[in-house]
Amino acid sequence: MNAITTTALEKRYDGKDGVAVDALRGVTLHVGTGEIYAILGPNGAGKTTLISILTTLLMPTAGLAMVAGYNVATEPEQVRRRIAVTFQEMVVDADLTGRQLLDFHARLYGLSRAARQEQIRTLGALVELTDALDRKAGTYSGGMKRRLELARGLLSAPQVLFLDEPTQGLDPQNRSSIWRHIRRLRDEQGITVLLTTHYMEEAEALADRVGIIDHGQLVVEGRPGDLVRQMGADVVTLTGNGAAAGLLLTVRALDFVTHVTEHAADDLVRVQIGVDDGERRLAALIGAASAAGFHVVQVNVNHPSLADVFLAHTGEELHNQ
Ligand SMILES: Nc1ncnc2c1ncn2[C@@H]1O[C@H](COP(=O)(O)OP(=O)(O)OP(=O)(O)O)[C@@H](O)[C@H]1O
Ligand SMILES: [Mg+2]
Repeated sequence: MNAITTTALEKRYDGKDGVAVDALRGVTLHVGTGEIYAILGPNGAGKTTLISILTTLLMPTAGLAMVAGYNVATEPEQVRRRIAVTFQEMVVDADLTGRQLLDFHARLYGLSRAARQEQIRTLGALVELTDALDRKAGTYSGGMKRRLELARGLLSAPQVLFLDEPTQGLDPQNRSSIWRHIRRLRDEQGITVLLTTHYMEEAEALADRVGIIDHGQLVVEGRPGDLVRQMGADVVTLTGNGAAAGLLLTVRALDFVTHVTEHAADDLVRVQIGVDDGERRLAALIGAASAAGFHVVQVNVNHPSLADVFLAHTGEELHNQ
């Protein structure tokens, strides 16, 4: 069964100045129960908008979204009972201790005193905050605050967990600790997780599947490993000027070439060529470029990563910020 389904989902914001923004332009995706799915995209791609709709905080303009078997637009109460969400803009009351914050939220869910104590002990251990629970949250590091947020989200024992940029601004060590917690949730509790990120490594390391979103559209999705393999064993990037059309035509016809994409890069053109063996094919490719009148100023050969997949499908580099 799918835990999340969207069909041709659209969201238009009517800007205050009369300029409408189409933040989602027909997003169709399916996330299976127990799956970790990452929405990867640059600033303004529509990630937070998508999460807001799936968590019933925003109404879609068109299309359908189902979460845990219920329609977000017509059965929001049913959806809310089965989900939790942590937002990009995180608010933690600095004067309360971690334990007080968790207890407060657990009370909102109507848990008994004994159940609250038990849940806080379990979740505190899960996110490795046991020793810090009686300190004020204002003294926590960024990573600890994120982990407290994660524990807070889990108090309601959700079936589906939404995490908007769960590790934004954290250092690599804190980041991998959050990843470990998220994976453990899925492995031990079978929770479905949809997270957004603009960290390539996050999607690659954590997600079962990743969907790349750009300008409100899902441009490609798949298992990170599969997406990367489709690029070829190696990617040769030729950056230069002149006519790339002839070069594209020539290299597409070569049997060792798996894919070719072309993008403008400032006043230059960047041609990405997926091949079976970069070192071995380099001379042939540069020869083809010069025969086609494409003047190469820079050559890169590398094993493809999700960064190359992203570039191939959006024409942009996804800068980590
Ligand atoms: N309340 C709003 N009113 C008008 N436009 C909005 C509103 N919220 C978001 N937008 C616009 O919708 C688009 C998508 O925004 P969204 O916040 O969903 O992107 P995002 O992928 O989460 O970006 P980021 O990586 O910066 O968090 C952007 O162009 C944004 O300016
Ligand atoms: Mg966002």
